[in-house]
Amino acid sequence: MIEFKDVSLVYPNGTQGLKNVNVTINDGEFVVIVGLSGAGKSTLIRSINRLVTPTNGSLLVDDEDILKYRSKNLRKLRTKTGMIFQNYNLVKRSNVLKNVLAGRLGHTGTLRSIFNMYSKKDKSLAYESLKRVNIEEKVYNRADELSGGQQQRVSIARVLTQQPKYILADEPVASLDPPTSHQVMTYLKKINKEDNITTIVNLHFIDMAMEYADRIIGMRAGEVVFDGPASEVTEKTFEEIYGRSIREDDLRGGTES
Ligand SMILES: Nc1ncnc2c1ncn2[C@@H]1O[C@H](COP(=O)(O)OP(=O)(O)O)[C@@H](O)[C@H]1O
Ligand SMILES: [Mg+2]
Repeated sequence: MIEFKDVSLVYPNGTQGLKNVNVTINDGEFVVIVGLSGAGKSTLIRSINRLVTPTNGSLLVDDEDILKYRSKNLRKLRTKTGMIFQNYNLVKRSNVLKNVLAGRLGHTGTLRSIFNMYSKKDKSLAYESLKRVNIEEKVYNRADELSGGQQQRVSIARVLTQQPKYILADEPVASLDPPTSHQVMTYLKKINKEDNITTIVNLHFIDMAMEYADRIIGMRAGEVVFDGPASEVTEKTFEEIYGRSIREDDLRGGTES
């Protein structure tokens, strides 16, 4: 369970990234965070694995305040939380298998991984993970030979190989075309359901969020302005998140229906 208790984050330059955020995310949930660029989505998600550190409040992960964590605890936290990035973060010149095995880093230790001393068990886990996102035939291809969608599937396989308790995906489909975006979202959702891994996904657009999320958290200017199931999203929600009406043109024409 993840609990934000009155969490604020002010960046060193004075920008307020988060403002009095109170959110509890239960085990197994699939939560989508939506909001405009600059709303604080990345800051929220990156607080959970302490890539950034909130300046106020407390942030509990499995009942421990991670804002008090230092090096050893941080390593454990980052092993427990798998991250998926917009730009995949693969080692381009390494092959797919090596990229996926990197998911074992937190478990294996750096030295063993430098020498490629992964166990048979790790290698078969990596291969099974690739199979789950249907990309196993690329196992010996270089990462940069793959399309964007394929690379994102490899990064999902890497996260699976990490066996995290939480998956944090920061705009995982922002660089992909619509059909590929849906494919990636479908895999994330499937994994969430099958493995019961709590998953938090940042997205720009609420329509995509509505299709996949059990729960939507809307953010604007560092604040949570909506928190509820997709079924409770209304036009007012849209206004709160985006600061304008979903049908502004209609309204200007006085044809509100
Ligand atoms: N490292 C940083 N230093 C200063 N300000 C930052 C930094 N990262 C983000 N911000 C600012 O914090 C706010 C929230 O940013 P961010 O969490 O990246 O939003 P989003 O992911 O929703 O686009 C924005 O105003 C952004 O410019
Ligand atoms: Mg962002």
